[in-house]
This record gives sequence, structure tokens and C-alpha cells, in this order.
Amino acid sequence: MVFKRTKLMGLSLLLALAASPVFAIDASFSKYVDDKGNIYLPEDPRKTMTHLGSWFVPEGDVSGFHDVYTEAETVEVYRRTGVFPDGATLVKELRKHNSGDYPTGANVSYPNGETRLWFVMIKDSTNRFPGNPLWAKGWGWSMFQTDNPDKNVVTSFEESCKACHTPAKETGWVFIEGYQATLGKPLH
Ligand code: HEC
Repeated sequence: MVFKRTKLMGLSLLLALAASPVFAIDASFSKYVDDKGNIYLPEDPRKTMTHLGSWFVPEGDVSGFHDVYTEAETVEVYRRTGVFPDGATLVKELRKHNSGDYPTGANVSYPNGETRLWFVMIKDSTNRFPGNPLWAKGWGWSMFQTDNPDKNVVTSFEESCKACHTPAKETGWVFIEGYQATLGKPLH
């Protein structure tokens, strides 16, 4: 009996291995990072995460709504400690907008249903992936497009993220002032 059970367990382990992707995810760090430091876009952040805050960019290449999501647990830890915990995920979704006159006022903007892209940052306080250009300044950095949301399309923080995020250097490279309603006043 014992032998049979062990054999069965072995079989299910084999099946589980066969069904799993080629990379290994260390879920104790982040569900969205594999052992090489590749980052994946969380599925449907609006359903699985909590809303951290939103920005509105009226014009230009990234115009529209910038909605930022994170884990509910991350909010809890930040409120207690004033820092993002290791493995915290920040997802920023960019959505295009239309504007029009409404009973609330003139030139009111609303998301028109089209998503532009997503940005993801994963907090890494122990420098897990030295030499991987997607990991820098205590975070992993990636970007995903709507035609293939399974695949990060940038190769390096230096090239694709650094210049724009430098103004937020003093607040851990995050534009923390946009999230006060959720996180409390910035402590930095
Ligand atoms: C054009 C400048 C620009 C570039 C390039 C840029 N960011 Fe940002 N990012 C911002 C600004 C400004 C904000 C906050 C305000 C906003 O969204 O308008 C922000 C916010 C974010 C947020 C939400 C958390 C926060 O810091 O407030 C994430 C996540 C993010 N960016 C990831 C990335 C990643 C990853 C890259 C590189 C692949 C990147 N960004 C490149 C300007 C930029």
C-alpha cells in the first residue's frame, strides 16, 4: 500500500513538472519573476490586485489614464513600515482616452476601452540578479504591449526607464506622491 502511494505521488510530481513552464518561479520571492530574473505581467491586475493610484496625462505619446496596481498585502506593509516589501509588484496600465462635454463639466475625459501598454516594477532589496540589466536600483523593470502581453519588450533599465524615473530617485525610484490616498503621506 505504502509503495503504491509513493509511486502515485511520484507520478503526479512528474505530471506537474511536465505541465510547468521551462522556467522556475520562486514564489517565495515573486510569482511574476523566474529564476533568470525575467518578469511577467500579472494577469488582470484590476481583479487580482488593489488600486494604488491613478495619473492622467492630457497629451503626447503616453496620453490617457495611468492606473497603478499592487498587492493588498504590499499596501498593508507600506502603511506600517513606509517601505515597499521585497517582492512587491507595481503594475502601471496605460489606457487611451476620449474627452467630451458632460453634465459634470466641459472637456471631461474617460478611458475609451483601448489599452496602450503596461509597465511592471518588482521590488528586490537583495540584488538577486546582478548583471541582469532589467534589475537596478532595488527594482526589476519591464514593459508589455497589448499584441503579446506574455513577453517583456525592453532589455534594460538604463535604456528604457532610468531617465524618466530619475526625478523619483529620492523616493525609491517610485513617484510616491501619486499614491498618498492609499499609502499615506510619503515618509521620505
Ligand atoms: C516618459 C517617461 C517615463 C519612462 C520612459 C518610464 N516611466 Fe515609469 N513613470 C513615469 C512617470 C512620470 C510615472 C508617474 C506618473 C505618470 O504615470 O505619469 C511613472 C510611473 C511608473 C510606475 C508606477 C509606480 C511609480 O513609480 O509611480 C511604474 C510601475 C513604472 N513607471 C514603470 C516603468 C518601467 C518599468 C519603465 C521602463 C521600461 C518606465 N516606467 C519608463 C515616467 C516614465
